[in-house]
Amino acid sequence: MFKVIIYLSIVATLFLATNGFLWHSGAKCQIAAFKGGKDFSGDKIMANKSFVPYLKSIAAVAKGCKVRVHVVDSYKQLKTPTEYVLSSQMPLALGCGIHFDLQDPKGSTVCNKLCMTTRSWKTLPEAACFIDNVQKKGLTFVEPNLLHGGCASKLSTSDLEALKVATQKLCAPKIKG
Ligand SMILES: *[C@@H]1O[C@H](CO)[C@@H](O)[C@H](O)[C@H]1NC(C)=O
Repeated sequence: MFKVIIYLSIVATLFLATNGFLWHSGAKCQIAAFKGGKDFSGDKIMANKSFVPYLKSIAAVAKGCKVRVHVVDSYKQLKTPTEYVLSSQMPLALGCGIHFDLQDPKGSTVCNKLCMTTRSWKTLPEAACFIDNVQKKGLTFVEPNLLHGGCASKLSTSDLEALKVATQKLCAPKIKG
């Protein structure tokens, strides 16, 4: 009988300790690979959960405008969480943005980096269709080639920096000893 009580209390202690541990380490990295499908090409897309609905809007608009979104860059893991990033790079450090150019559905160039930079996209019907309509879906377009959404855009610079540090820390690759 005595042995059983000891045994049960050991089990109970282990159970509580494990749960407590899991509960405390509850904050998880929210960045994951996004399976783009045929409306995207280029780099693998890594995105925060909050950016995923926006990526789906991007895909829908791309399809409607008969373009394919060629992804040049998405979430960027910094060398250290506190590394300085320009405000134009902040959405990528938060996992809420992509750098892109545009292809046709077969993969030929519609608007490359130069075209994006010189605003030639305004004169290309498919490109103008895409860029105008993604903005109507709530995405923010920043010239020359950044699309972002779902990040806490109303935060102050210092709050954004704190969010960046927290995200980067949570998502840093775990080093195995
Ligand atoms: C990432 O997504 C989660 C879940 O939607 C959200 O709570 C968090 O604020 C997002 N992170 C950033 C940096 O926007």
